[in-house]
Formats: sequence, structure tokens, C-alpha cells
Amino acid sequence: MEEKYTDLIHKAQLAYENAYAPYSNYKVGAAVLWDSGAITIGANMENASYGLTVCAERNAIAAGIGMGERQIVAIAIAVPSEDLPAPCGACRQVLREFSSDSTVLLVNGKGKIKKTNLKKLFPDSFGPEFLKKL
Ligand code: THU
Repeated sequence: MEEKYTDLIHKAQLAYENAYAPYSNYKVGAAVLWDSGAITIGANMENASYGLTVCAERNAIAAGIGMGERQIVAIAIAVPSEDLPAPCGACRQVLREFSSDSTVLLVNGKGKIKKTNLKKLFPDSFGPEFLKKL
């Protein structure tokens, strides 16, 4: 993997250690690289009222938005388990709000990395520019 992504991946791996996932036991960490160079992290946060669960990716994105960031360059998503993670549909849509085609790095517990991008994961998507053309 390109060296420019090693720190981002490491931060996503550190983030899953803080996941609050007592119900699924499925821990996820995410680290988002913004165009300013800032990196924000997040972990999944479950709730006894299950539907209130928030994914790691959206928590990492929300942390950046609160700092004034708006443009995502890349996101690393890491899990301790064997299968590579896959961002859920809701997270793909939220990523799309802040990037038309960010780099997406999927990392499993053995350090296997798959590099892909949002356009591949979420083709023909709806985004903010649709509303600007009204
Ligand atoms: N989860 C994430 O944090 N990110 C994903 O992309 C998929 C799912 C979390 C939500 C929930 O806490 C657990 O994984 C099981 O769905």
C-alpha cells in the first residue's frame, strides 16, 4: 500500500479499539482524510434501542464536519475480524455528500487491504449537485 495511506489505516485500526458494540460485537473503526490534510476518526456506537446505532464511517465524517471540513479525499475502514469490511448503504450516501469519488481503503484484522473508490462502490449516485441544478 502507498505510504501516504499508512497513517490513515493505522488510525482506523486504533479507532475500532474504542468501538461501542456490545450487541453485535462487530467492531469497526474509520479514519477520514480531508482536503485540508486533517484526519478525523470514528468508531461504531450501538444503542440498546438498536435502530439508533451509528456506523464508524458516519461518526468519523461527523467529527470532520464539526471542525469545518467539507471535502473528503480518502477513508480507511478497519475491522479486527477476518472478512474485509463493506460500508453500509447509508454510509456510502453520506460519503457521497462530501466527495464525488474518494479513495476507500478496506482493512481486515490480518492487515489485508483492498483499495477501491466511491464511484465503484456507489455508482450512478444522487448527490448535492442535483439540487443545485433546480
Ligand atoms: N457498522 C459500521 O460501523 N460500519 C459499516 O460499514 C457496517 C456496519 C456497524 C454498525 C453496527 O454497530 C455493527 O457494525 C453491526 O451492524
